Amino acid sequence: MVRRNLAFVALVFAVLALLLAGCSQSAPAASPTAAKPAATAAPAGGAAAAANLDEGKAIFDKNCTGCHPGGDKGVGPSLKTTSKDVQGIKTQVRSGKGQMPAFDKNTISDQQLESLAAYVDSLKKK
Ligand code: HEC
Repeated sequence: MVRRNLAFVALVFAVLALLLAGCSQSAPAASPTAAKPAATAAPAGGAAAAANLDEGKAIFDKNCTGCHPGGDKGVGPSLKTTSKDVQGIKTQVRSGKGQMPAFDKNTISDQQLESLAAYVDSLKKK
């Protein structure tokens, strides 16, 4: 009786030890791969911060689409036919012009501006 209990306790302990070992091994192995994919969409322009078109669209929808609806002409001109390049778009956003307000870093960070300009630039080519 006593021996059977000991064997059972040993078995339970062994299973627990295996489970713990399994958990502690899989957790660190998963995180490096999960952290990587976000940093791959860097534009060819050599910008320091990586541009992200989804982020760019979100910023556009929040700050720009009211005057450039979906990138088309509204209060502001169409951005799909603009001759401005990515740098020109960034300058326009930071400086503003005429009825277009300037957007400073508190509203659109440098990183967000990279994504926004890449997004606006991508509208043009469609
Ligand atoms: C209050 C309305 C308004 C908002 C908001 C606005 N714009 Fe404009 N935008 C304009 C107007 C008006 C012009 C034309 C300015 C001029 O040349 O007098 C313009 C011009 C531009 C141009 C230059 C187009 C060209 O070919 O010369 C770009 C690029 C642009 N806007 C991008 C943006 C982006 C990106 C945002 C969001 C961060 C934005 N705009 C938000 C009104 C707006």
